[in-house]
Amino acid sequence: MSSTAQQRRCGVQQMSAAPPLMLLLLLLMLMLSGCSCMDVLVNSNLNALNGSTVKMTCTFTSCYKMDTSKFSMNWTYQESHNDTEELFMTYYKKKMMAVRSERFGDRVSFVGNLDRNDLSITLSDVQEMDEGTYHCYVKNPPDRIQGHGVIQFKVVAELPPPRDSTIAVAIGASVGGALALLILSMVVVKCLRRHRAQELISEEKMEEEGKLEAEGVAEEETKQP
Ligand SMILES: *[C@@H]1O[C@H](CO)[C@@H](O)[C@H](O)[C@H]1NC(C)=O
Ligand SMILES: *[C@@H]1O[C@H](CO)[C@@H](O)[C@H](O)[C@H]1NC(C)=O
Ligand SMILES: *[C@@H]1O[C@H](CO)[C@@H](O)[C@H](O)[C@H]1NC(C)=O
Repeated sequence: MSSTAQQRRCGVQQMSAAPPLMLLLLLLMLMLSGCSCMDVLVNSNLNALNGSTVKMTCTFTSCYKMDTSKFSMNWTYQESHNDTEELFMTYYKKKMMAVRSERFGDRVSFVGNLDRNDLSITLSDVQEMDEGTYHCYVKNPPDRIQGHGVIQFKVVAELPPPRDSTIAVAIGASVGGALALLILSMVVVKCLRRHRAQELISEEKMEEEGKLEAEGVAEEETKQP
């Protein structure tokens, strides 16, 4: 139901196409200003059943170990494209705080683990009005880049019938099975052919050897390896 998207914002990679001299200059600048390899990983498309509890995963990687006194995280909700973002969970000045809002009440909890760079939250008793875009912002100084994960969240009344996946599995299994059978039969046929060919060869050899022996010529050639 959820696909995983990675948002890569590593300055070094974006510059790899630049000419060598530029690259050198930029590298120098990077070294002076501090490196960034901030990378945020989220489930970019997430669906949940009406009334259920959903986990919104947000993890990140950074070149720098987290310094809790400088680290900062914000989760915001945006109803639709042009709406302003509402802050509902924040880590700022060493404190994780749920920001109470009329929309979410106390339905949001932090379930991540800062030691593992995990900033995940859960949203319980999912309502239709929870649909929208969720943003996970990360700052991990001295990493210069602000990490940003975006989740498009949809509330569904019913999860798609499992039939779809069983059909897919059945198709996959039968195609796989057929392929396996085909390969197996090819191997068997090849083996049989080789076996027959070897029999023919040994028959021929025996015939030849017989002839040679009969002619009483090269005795060496009758020796089997
Ligand atoms: C959103 O804002 C843009 C301009 O910033 C405007 O062109 C567009 O019509 C707006 N969309 C909606 C749905 O309001
Ligand atoms: C989170 O919000 C606070 C207050 O607006 C801000 O100072 C901080 O830089 C923000 N952090 C991130 C990662 O966006
Ligand atoms: C979601 O659940 C609420 C009650 O739990 C119900 O009133 C509402 O109609 C449901 N919505 C959908 C789309 O199923």
